Amino acid sequence: MSFSNIQTEDRGSVRIITINRPEKLNALNKATIQELHTAFNEAGSDKNIRVIILTGSGEKAFVAGADISEFAHFNAEEGKMLAGEGQRMLFDYVEELEKPVIAAVNGFALGGGLELAMSCHIRIASDNAKMGLPEVSLGVIPGYGGTQRLPRLIGKGRASQLIFSAEMISAAQAEQWGLVNKTVPQAELLNEAMQLAEKISRNSPAAIAHAIRSVNAGFAASKDGFGYEIAQFGSTFATNDFKEGTTAFLEKRKPNFSGE
Ligand code: COA
Repeated sequence: MSFSNIQTEDRGSVRIITINRPEKLNALNKATIQELHTAFNEAGSDKNIRVIILTGSGEKAFVAGADISEFAHFNAEEGKMLAGEGQRMLFDYVEELEKPVIAAVNGFALGGGLELAMSCHIRIASDNAKMGLPEVSLGVIPGYGGTQRLPRLIGKGRASQLIFSAEMISAAQAEQWGLVNKTVPQAELLNEAMQLAEKISRNSPAAIAHAIRSVNAGFAASKDGFGYEIAQFGSTFATNDFKEGTTAFLEKRKPNFSGE
């Protein structure tokens, strides 16, 4: 499918999705959210794709937030719908995707941009990146999961500081707080993300899907994470990847996983 606001590129079994509105610092308007939903859906169902990298175009921004011009005139009901629809179509959708998604944060990740990076399973940042949730400076609160995912990643106290002050932190600070896994010079960002993606893609896609579900279950109020892990662990034993992985180990050869 062709897109107007994003670009996709495959490198082996890795799909790179690039948000491409650099003139608006890749702000998330409705059309971009729709296209991202379609792109993640396609990547999720493409058997040749094992890992997805999400980044922003240009050198300045990953995503500078939700597109303020689109919601400035909304009423309370429209605001609620904006957040609900966005969470369902993109933010929860990415977190629940059964293939690993790595955010390559190449600049500003603000508001919905940081929320999108936090929906990804792993974050790597360029050393010029700046992160924050500036919503209260606009008279709103984070509505794409920011009040939930930020405390889980960096703790309630630090998250409250960022959310209440609307301040931005540097990539180095974000790494120290565990908001990003690693910081690298901007020129190396995509290579770094690719190296990790390739490492992941050598492992069993079926097992990774079970692991993603289990990790997410631990953060779902409605689920018992430990019990869920037991069930998912058992279910991996029914996959071809399990047979292949264990057989290859015993035969002292590299596994060739089908993902089934
Ligand atoms: N929504 C809509 N447009 C946005 C945007 C957003 N979240 N963030 C940036 N843009 C647009 C600007 O309006 C500007 O468009 P214009 O050239 O048509 O006027 C363009 O992107 C470039 O941004 P600009 O503000 O000129 O860049 P800067 O380098 O001076 O400042 C930021 C960069 C990120 C500090 C600043 O753009 C900003 O504060 N953006 C909003 C961040 C935010 O509050 N996000 C949370 C939204 S809930």
